Amino acid sequence: MYHFAGDSTLTKPELYRELTASAEALVAGERDSVANMANLAALLWQLLPDLNWAGFYRVVAGELVLGPFQGKAACIRIPFGQGVCGAAAASGAVQLVADVHAFPGHIACDADSRSELVVPVLHHGVVIAVIDLDSPTLARFDAEDAAGIAQLAKAIAAAIAG
Ligand code: SME
Repeated sequence: MYHFAGDSTLTKPELYRELTASAEALVAGERDSVANMANLAALLWQLLPDLNWAGFYRVVAGELVLGPFQGKAACIRIPFGQGVCGAAAASGAVQLVADVHAFPGHIACDADSRSELVVPVLHHGVVIAVIDLDSPTLARFDAEDAAGIAQLAKAIAAAIAG
């Protein structure tokens, strides 16, 4: 099993390069998408500070359905276009939300969440899932986090495709 050193002196781009390398090592050779998403959620939770939720929503029959995650129990189904996750899935664009209370239609699964980053995962040009990160801190995520998670999403897309 892969072990990450957890070096807190890394810059964000370095941290995300480590995260992506760790993720690729974790899913290498494994075809089970649920097992891969479960380990990836655990890795995100372990490596990224100041989160209260980290995990996946999968596109199933035209809506988002809860996938493997770390954090409190969450909403199970989210229609495309609703909330931050639904906006990411519908548009295919990263959603970087500094203050979830200011986001129209935000779905408050965990009342602790103050900011959120949602990154669509595309496989063969189609959104198959989103990676959702929530933080109890306002404006926890910036453009470097968005770029880092987008890089991760590209690297693991094939490994989580059902
Ligand atoms: N807040 C999200 C819902 C998912 S939970 O944060 C885990 C949203 O508005 O889409």
